[in-house]
Amino acid sequence: MQINSCAPLRGEITVPGDKSISHRAVMLGALASGTTHITGFLMGEDCLSTIDCFRKMGVSIDVSDKEVVVEGVGLHGLTAPKSELYTGNSGTTTRLLSGILAGQSFTSTMNGDASIQKRPMGRVMKPLREMGASIEGRDDNFCPLTMHPSELHGIEYRLPVASAQLKSAILLAGLYAEGQTTVIEPAPSRDHTERMFRALGVEIETNGNVITLEPPEDLHAVDIAVPADISSAAFFLVAGAIVPGSELTIRNVGVNPTRTGILDVLRSMGADITESNFRDDAEPVCDLTVRYSRLHGTEIGGAIIPRLIDELPVIAVAAAFAEGETVIRDAQELKVKESNRIASMVAELTKAGVDVEETDDGMIVRGGAKPHGAAFETYKDHRIAMSLAVLGLAAEGASRIDEPEVVAISYPDFFTTLEKLGG
Ligand code: S3P
Repeated sequence: MQINSCAPLRGEITVPGDKSISHRAVMLGALASGTTHITGFLMGEDCLSTIDCFRKMGVSIDVSDKEVVVEGVGLHGLTAPKSELYTGNSGTTTRLLSGILAGQSFTSTMNGDASIQKRPMGRVMKPLREMGASIEGRDDNFCPLTMHPSELHGIEYRLPVASAQLKSAILLAGLYAEGQTTVIEPAPSRDHTERMFRALGVEIETNGNVITLEPPEDLHAVDIAVPADISSAAFFLVAGAIVPGSELTIRNVGVNPTRTGILDVLRSMGADITESNFRDDAEPVCDLTVRYSRLHGTEIGGAIIPRLIDELPVIAVAAAFAEGETVIRDAQELKVKESNRIASMVAELTKAGVDVEETDDGMIVRGGAKPHGAAFETYKDHRIAMSLAVLGLAAEGASRIDEPEVVAISYPDFFTTLEKLGG
């Protein structure tokens, strides 16, 4: 696909539903008693993998343009899958499902694509085993993972990394455990699981960084409206901020404070972003308007990292167009995403003539000189592909992106929306 340097981006868009919330809506809907109607569901490949896994365990899930309807089977109603559960490219499906499967009375095996088979699963195996789970993985760390029936008991677990997938896996296993389950986070990570548990009647308490769950009798189905994904909005926030003359509005974006690090960082770089129509149901939502402005470098590290972990590739693009130095640190987790996102972005920014240096836990981008177009590699990573497309819009000359179809993991219509805005 060719990307050309573009005229100002103008207009109003909606971006697809939140990936994290869509996964959780299907999972908790499946375990609830009653029917769950999900609107705004993300029809991306990752979330479809979650639907597929639950269908294989006897859950009826109807997908239409309007909504996804999940017929809950109750906490103990899943049935043994007849074949391996395939989680595709989805870390969230794999890790969260491992917590649920650990508590079942049947044996199951999960596997995913080449990227999933390289991602660390020891981090979920360890606490689940402490809870009494019988779980095997290749080299004790990788998919395929096999879970055998076992009795679980609650634990108190201090997470070694601020990971919402890990936290959620433990809390989901906690549904099936004898006694309380407590998770202590080093820094707050996205809290969609906790919010959805509360909405479904599960007793769960958050006290600073300590989260405690009481195993419930059952979960009561509620309808779920999924807000637009701030991680998908991020590409347009950066595009609007770096393409001269742009002004665009993104409607109904989820602005849960555990996800809004991108807004804090872009504003600290001088971006002009305003919020309107704020409302708060189970998740806070608003419209975001971004206008082009001159950006400057910033420092990003510490507790903000889990609040913007998926946005760091596109933040690196913003940094390339910003005057001065941007330092990203404490972001080692980027190395174990769909690709090694530090290495991927450093290599591709370098191709575009950006002065960028890889560090142990992030990168240093020295912006200011206008990047030029290049033939970019995606590493089969949806967020790398979209970040490089944004770079191409504001770079000098044309760019090429190999395998643009990888965006379908989280944003199937990304390029169509970009064209609609004038990109
Ligand atoms: C997610 C948590 C994050 C994030 C991922 C989605 C979730 O992963 O990168 O895209 O839905 O819980 P980690 O838990 O590995 O940080």
